[in-house]
Amino acid sequence: MTVPAQVQTTAPARSVQLHPLSRRIMHWINALAMFVMIGSGWRIYNFYPALPIHFGFPDYLTLGGDFTVTEAVSNEDGLANALLWHFAAMWVLVLNFLAYVIVGFVSGHFRRDFLPVSVGAFLRDFLDALRGRLDHRLGEYNAVQRVFYWGVLAAILVTILSGLSIWKPVQLQWLTALFGGYEFARVVHFFGMAAIVGFLVVHLALTALVPKTLVAMVVGRASETPHPRNGGQR
Ligand code: HEM
Repeated sequence: MTVPAQVQTTAPARSVQLHPLSRRIMHWINALAMFVMIGSGWRIYNFYPALPIHFGFPDYLTLGGDFTVTEAVSNEDGLANALLWHFAAMWVLVLNFLAYVIVGFVSGHFRRDFLPVSVGAFLRDFLDALRGRLDHRLGEYNAVQRVFYWGVLAAILVTILSGLSIWKPVQLQWLTALFGGYEFARVVHFFGMAAIVGFLVVHLALTALVPKTLVAMVVGRASETPHPRNGGQR
């Protein structure tokens, strides 16, 4: 029996390639390097706070050394080790970030998948997400994701540049001056980190809501039931 076209709302699931190997490798190298940078950065902060207010990160959330956390806090080696971790992961983060940005622009990935963005689309998708009604279509980022991806790329860039300016304030005087001097550059570096951590909270929550995106970011492919609204076209 032939089913009338208007009744055929769903097409069979198909497997689609979503992320090339290079993107997946760079995404996970970035996640690992971020984990080390943030953990060691928080320990450096505990020894040498950038903000005038009194707070510290819980020791168990910080990285830098294979001794117990309590010993580390009372031991200057805790700072030296955290700095070594921070400087080691820094190179991985910077080189990987540069590669990701170059490939993103040159391959057309950013133009195809991160654009267009508009305030109207962002507000619409943001409100839908709050109401739990945001439709996730594999292979297509919604406006909230697009804005957040551009935002985190900008935050990473500012954090890298302010980090370089406090690492080599003499050799890179012009860069330190651009950030309003050494002490202010440290504050900028801190808020850059805070923006990245804020992004990560939302990013991980969205990933948990649509776990198949995580599978796709690991294996590259996902099986998709084409969306009835557009006749199964992406
Ligand atoms: C354990 C940590 C992380 C998990 C589980 C994770 C998960 C994911 C997943 C599942 C996607 C694909 C989203 C989709 O298809 O809708 C994605 C994309 C992305 N993630 Fe993450 N992520 C993590 C860490 C990070 C970090 C630390 C950053 C940056 C600070 C980041 C930045 C991005 C960006 C920019 C994309 C878009 C990739 C592209 O299409 O080029 N992620 N992530």
